[in-house]
Amino acid sequence: MDDTEDRIQAAIANPRNMGEMPDADAVGTVGNPECGDMVRMWLKFSEKDGKKVIDRASFQSFGCQTAIAVASLATEMLKGKTVDEARELNSADLSKPLGPLPPMKLHCGDMVEGALREALKGGNPAETTDTATEPSPVPGETLLGSFQAQPLKSGKLKVVKLD
Ligand code: FES
Repeated sequence: MDDTEDRIQAAIANPRNMGEMPDADAVGTVGNPECGDMVRMWLKFSEKDGKKVIDRASFQSFGCQTAIAVASLATEMLKGKTVDEARELNSADLSKPLGPLPPMKLHCGDMVEGALREALKGGNPAETTDTATEPSPVPGETLLGSFQAQPLKSGKLKVVKLD
């Protein structure tokens, strides 16, 4: 097992900030139809020295271990960052503590970056619910349903915003 894989295993053995944040100020959700994985991130803001900072972040992931590991590290990394600082972070920054991700796992970090970017746009947490994670027989009615309703694209891996 290489170092990156060791670090991924260590991160998922003790994931941080996993789960819905009931008092969140913003939420962002993305999915990747190619691999079938999803990440949702919640943010809670506070103010420090007149600037809006991330007080807390949490995540849910229906996905691979790498996405969970990156999301866990990202939610730790985001604490205390200003919104502008958080906007500067890309998937390489968010996954840096794991070491360089192998090419086939780069999109796992991209999904976490995508969820963060959506949350930083200020997605309304009131529009997401616990039941959003339950499978729905009606595509588009829930998180999974809306994900399943996304048209599959061939070729390039694509991260899509989910309502
Ligand atoms: Fe798709 Fe990791 S394999 S997010």
